[in-house]
Amino acid sequence: MRNSKRIGALALVWAAATTTPVAFAQPTAEDLGRLEYEGNCASCHGMTGKGDGRLKGLLTKAPSDLTTLSRRYGGAFPNQMVWEIIDGRTEVGAHGARDMPVWGQVFRRQALQYPGMANQPEWYVRGRIVALLDYLARIQTK
Ligand code: HEC
Repeated sequence: MRNSKRIGALALVWAAATTTPVAFAQPTAEDLGRLEYEGNCASCHGMTGKGDGRLKGLLTKAPSDLTTLSRRYGGAFPNQMVWEIIDGRTEVGAHGARDMPVWGQVFRRQALQYPGMANQPEWYVRGRIVALLDYLARIQTK
């Protein structure tokens, strides 16, 4: 029961992630990184990034506090590491199942749905991850 509830919730997250029109498709003066974060990450990591999103109770592992990455990883924002964790494709298989969606796959799948992006999906994946890194770097606590 608990498990099927959990899978249902995760499926919802995935469905939302794969159908939500992307910020890039509609340029605005808004903060792209924040939009990406609120649309894709806040459900687990919380609106403030502290790890208290509404899906928290359904996950096996607690979503990390994303405001303390710099502090926990040596002082400077660990761009490369965070990039790889968000993308997730190099990690699959290496550490077994993870509760966090593999965003590299999610974003790539979306790119393939856009006529202008389908022939260069990795640029689109990178753009979205860069926007997220930019936002996460800005919410680090000292
Ligand atoms: C379905 C819930 C869920 C969603 C949505 C989610 N995460 Fe996570 N995330 C987790 C969990 C749980 C962990 C803890 C580690 C694990 O699962 O291996 C984690 C870990 C992380 C870490 C590692 C932090 C550390 O302390 O090493 C980063 C970075 C991260 N998430 C970023 C993101 C970003 C950016 C997004 C949005 C694009 C996102 N997450 C969306 C559940 C989620």
